[in-house]
Amino acid sequence: MTDDLRRLVYYSRNRTVGAPEAVDATIRAILATSRTNNARVGVTGALMFNAGCFAQVLEGPSDAVEATFERIQQDERHGDVSLLAYEAVATRLFTDWSMAYVGASKAEADRYGDVADTSGFDIARMTGDRLCAVLHGLALEEEAAVAA
Ligand SMILES: Cc1cc2nc3c(=O)[nH]c(=O)nc-3n(C[C@H](O)[C@H](O)[C@H](O)COP(=O)(O)O)c2cc1C
Repeated sequence: MTDDLRRLVYYSRNRTVGAPEAVDATIRAILATSRTNNARVGVTGALMFNAGCFAQVLEGPSDAVEATFERIQQDERHGDVSLLAYEAVATRLFTDWSMAYVGASKAEADRYGDVADTSGFDIARMTGDRLCAVLHGLALEEEAAVAA
C-alpha cells in the first residue's frame, strides 16, 4: 500500500528520571515494544534519545502511523510532544528498521556540529526534513559500525 505511505516526525521532552541504568532500562523497554508493534503493523523509523529529548520518525500506512502516534502521545515517559512533519511520501527512508535507535552521544553530537550546541541537539530549531536526514545518517553509521 505504498500509495498511502506517510512519514511523521516529532520531538518531545524526556520525563524519565533516575539513575542512568534506570533510564537505559526504560529506553530498552520502549525499543522492544516498538520493534514488536511496529513490525506487526508495517511501521518503520528511528528513535533518538539524549538526556533531555526524544526525536522520532515513524513511516508506514497512515492508519498504522496515526494509531501508533496516538499511543505514543499518551505515554507519560515523555511530554510536550511537538509534531514537526506529517506528510505523504513516495518511499520509506528506514526500510530496514522497525525502529532504529540512535543515542545522541557526545561523539555524534560533535560530528553533527551544525545541528548541535553545547547542550546536545537543538531539536526545536530543526525542520522535520533535517531531523529525519540526521536520524537516517546516524542509523546508517551505527549499522556500518556494527557490521565492521
Ligand atoms: C519516546 C517514545 C517512543 C515510542 N515509540 C513507539 C513506537 O514506535 N511504537 C510503539 O508501538 N510504541 C512506542 N512507544 C510506546 C507507546 O507509548 C506505548 O507504551 C506502547 O505502544 C504500548 O504497547 P503495548 O500495548 O503493546 O504494551 C514509545 C514510547 C515513547 C516514550
